[in-house]
Formats: sequence, structure tokens, C-alpha cells
Amino acid sequence: MHNVLVTGGAGFIGSNFIRYLLQVEPEVFVVNLDALTYAGSLENLKDLPAPERYVFEQGDICSRPLVDELMRKYQIDTVVHFAAESHVDRSILGPEQFIQTNIVGTFTLLESAKQYWAESSSSPNPYQGVRFHHVSTDEVFGSLEPDDPPFSETTPYAPNSPYSASKAASDHLVRAYAHTYGLPVTITNCSNNYGPYQFPEKLIPLMILNALEGKPLPVYGDGQQIRDWLFVQDHCEAIWMVLRKGKVGETYNIGGDNQPTNLTVVQTICDILDEFVPDSPHTPHRSLIRYVTDRPGHDRRYAMDITKIRQELGWQPRHSMSEGLVKTVRWYLDNPEWVEAIRKQQDFQKWVSQNYGERRYETPQEGNR
Ligand code: NAD
Ligand code: TYD
Repeated sequence: MHNVLVTGGAGFIGSNFIRYLLQVEPEVFVVNLDALTYAGSLENLKDLPAPERYVFEQGDICSRPLVDELMRKYQIDTVVHFAAESHVDRSILGPEQFIQTNIVGTFTLLESAKQYWAESSSSPNPYQGVRFHHVSTDEVFGSLEPDDPPFSETTPYAPNSPYSASKAASDHLVRAYAHTYGLPVTITNCSNNYGPYQFPEKLIPLMILNALEGKPLPVYGDGQQIRDWLFVQDHCEAIWMVLRKGKVGETYNIGGDNQPTNLTVVQTICDILDEFVPDSPHTPHRSLIRYVTDRPGHDRRYAMDITKIRQELGWQPRHSMSEGLVKTVRWYLDNPEWVEAIRKQQDFQKWVSQNYGERRYETPQEGNR
């Protein structure tokens, strides 16, 4: 039996990962440490497949006494570290919490794991059978020009936003703990995720929910920015595969092997909604698209080379972007209670007026509708 500490397990990817892990792996006990910030919700963890193998602990990853206590209490042998401030736009308006959680929080977990594993082991190699897995992002590599090759595991770091800089710093710390102390770590850098339980501040759920309400669909700048998109369950599968089969000390890039423009993503969502809710007064949903003032320092293009994980571990995405988007739109339509609970959050309303209130709205250019 593995005792797995999942940090940030009440957030989007963490909650999907816990659901996935309990389903596919009978030999795990999961401890979920989450501070329940605006981005975390216990609504994401209802009806788990094996609740008797799961426990929730509310708290901050920056609290060393708390993390030490949990490591001991549950005899943790595996840490899967998701907890982070994760939204680029929020990092632009208020970077401080990103430094705290993403850098100091990761440092705290590394120190605690290192000490607990060293003290609790009786074997000559104190790190036998334990693992620290760090979940990171492709944004640490910066922005690609149109003809640049995709990001690989050896692409130099060049983070551009306070979010990506804080994630880059956390990656470096994890790497340093492996190099200096021999801590058995793995790191994954993944592209943009989408799917069930994503907080609607991010592009895809924001567009689905705004479109359903007939609100404007705010596309930043010219909408020609490019992201690589991965359905969240495919990400969860990749992480578990890296934990089981990945080589200690290695980094793996994960991505969906697709690079649509933001505008194409939004248009596809509109078309799926036209099909699923044909009687909506807001069809055609594309008419709701509005170009708004761009994000400062907006990265133009991301693309992931997933050759390493494909060749070494045999992982590849199961969902194409169109399959994943259909499933995602369906999930938001089928879960109105979840949507209502999140929408009512005061913090979310405040965020919407803070982030979008000042942006200038323009009509779509001819040919882009
Ligand atoms: P999220 O914002 O949905 O969830 C983050 C979770 O962490 C929340 O439940 C929040 O309550 C918790 N948290 C925040 N600060 C905390 C603290 N100090 N102590 C304890 N818990 C805290 O994020 P997500 O989209 O699920 O991303 C999870 C991880 O995956 C992050 O590390 C992110 O950088 C990485 N990642 C995300 C994406 C993406 O597209 N969402 C892509 C690649 C990598
Ligand atoms: P987002 O989901 O915030 O992820 P990230 O910034 O981490 O890639 O945004 C995805 C893309 O969509 C990004 O290029 C910014 C753009 N975007 C919009 O055009 N409008 C929006 O309202 C949001 C939230 C994002």
C-alpha cells in the first residue's frame, strides 16, 4: 500500500487526479492537503470512487509544522505536488501570493519530505521506495516564435509572467534537492489542461459559461495566440505513469499534440453549444465573441514535444481536442449545481469585474467571426 500525499487536491487537476488514482489503483491511500483558496472546492471531490481510502486535511503547504505532522501521521511515501496559485492573469494583478505558495510552499514540502524520509528510514538508502513528484507547466519555457521547434525537456527556461517565473523557481528547487541531497524526484511540465471541474476563470470554462448566459466572450488581443491543449484525464494518467515507470531525477514533457489558436478554441466551443442547445436564444454563439484589450506580456505560442514520454513510457493522449471539448461542454451542461455553487462565490464575481471591467470591448474583425 502506498500512502500518497496529494497537495492542491481540491483544485482542478488535483481533484481529477485523486478521482483517477482511487479508481485505477487499489493499493493507495490518499491524503489531500489543500488550503481551499478561491480555486479549491470540496464540491470537486463529491462521490469519490473509494472514499475509505481517502482523507482531506485543510491547510497551507507553507506551514512546516503542519506538513511535518501529516508526513508522520500518515507515513507518507509519495508526494504528488499540485498546490499552486495557477492563473496568469491573477499573477499579473497580484504576484505576491504566487511567490509564497509556489516557491516557499514547494521549498517547505521538499524540506519536510527530505527530513521525514531520512529520519524514518532504517535502510542505508533512506530514500528507498519514496518519491516526490512535482507538477509543473510548459509556461516555464517562455514563448515560441512561429517557426521555432516545440519545447523539449532540454529547452532553456525563459518564464515571462510572475506565474511562470514562480513555477520555474519551484522546478529549480526540486531539481536542486535531487542533485544536492539525492531526493528521488520526478518533474512533469504539462501544457494547458481543460475538462471537468475547471474553475471558470480559465479560457475554456469561462467561454462555455459566458456563452450559456449570452454574455460576451472576451478574446484577448487578436485571438491568434497558440496553446497546446490536453484533456485533464490524460494528464492524470501521464502523471501516474511517470510515478510508476518514470526514471528518478528525470523531467517529462506532457501535452496534447495539438496547437489551435485561442480564437479557434472559442469558435469550436460556440459550434458545440449550437449543436447541444439549439433552442438557446444566444445561437449562433459565435456572435458573442468580442476582442478585448490584450494581457500584458502575453506569450504568443506554446507547443510541446512529447517524444520522450511517448518513447520511454508509452504514454500518449487518448483524447483529440475535439473529443475532449465535446466531453467538457457536456460536463458543464450536466452539472448545473456545481456551476451555480462556483458562480455564487463572491471572490469570482469580484475577479470578473477586476479583470474584465477595465478591458475595452471591440467587435470581431471581418473574417474572424
Ligand atoms: P487550481 O488553481 O485549480 O488548484 C490549485 C489548488 O491548490 C486549489 O485547490 C487551492 O486551494 C490549492 N492551494 C493553493 N494554494 C495553496 C496553499 N498555499 N496550500 C495548500 N493548497 C493550496 O490549479 P490547477 O489548474 O489544478 O493546477 C494544478 C497544478 O498543475 C499547478 O501546480 C499548476 O501550476 C499545474 N499546471 C496546471 C495547468 C493547467 O492548465 N491548469 C497546466 C500545467 C500545469
Ligand atoms: P488561460 O486559460 O488563462 O491559460 P494560460 O494563460 O495559462 O495559457 O488562457 C489561455 C489562453 O486564452 C491565453 O492565451 C489567454 C487567453 N484568454 C483569453 O483570450 N480570454 C480570456 O478571458 C482568458 C481567461 C484567456
